[in-house]
Amino acid sequence: MTAAPRPHPVPTGTSVRLTVNGQPADLVLDPRVTLLDALREHLQLTGSKKGCDHGQCGACTVMVNGRRINSCLSLAVMHDGDEVTTIEGIGTPDALDPMQEAFVSHDGFQCGYCTPGQICSAKAVLEEIRQGIPSHVTRDLEHVSFSDDELRERMSGNSCRCGAYANILAAIREVEERA
Ligand code: FES
Ligand code: FES
Repeated sequence: MTAAPRPHPVPTGTSVRLTVNGQPADLVLDPRVTLLDALREHLQLTGSKKGCDHGQCGACTVMVNGRRINSCLSLAVMHDGDEVTTIEGIGTPDALDPMQEAFVSHDGFQCGYCTPGQICSAKAVLEEIRQGIPSHVTRDLEHVSFSDDELRERMSGNSCRCGAYANILAAIREVEERA
């Protein structure tokens, strides 16, 4: 007697509700889908870039509940109920965010591939310092400063293959000084 063929597993999805750039987004996703792929492939928000897909380049940086994360390293289903901000929610061509303006005026990019992640990170970095969150190079835990060392250290997870680092630093510095 031959064994009955096993039925193929029925594909199932998991419901996830995100708020992305202030708009509700209800998705049914394979639980293995990363937040980056959910944004890019399911919500067509392609501003966040996939550089390495391994948490090494920072091109996929977005903010979740006000904190920056590498969206390629996080499953979308882990973010049910979370507020996500991508580069599309930070400014528009007609109404640039001050950080975007500063990147333009300081030539903080060449090819631009890393730029959405750089800008999301840069905005979060200034907020982290304002909140007094220390980094690996913080010397005085009572007074976290906006020193170049702090900015470089905190931006070190965002690689730029075009090497625009000096100009990125100048852009962040300008926004910090204008605030
Ligand atoms: S694509 Fe996420 S860190 Fe490189
Ligand atoms: S501007 Fe090209 S990788 Fe950064």
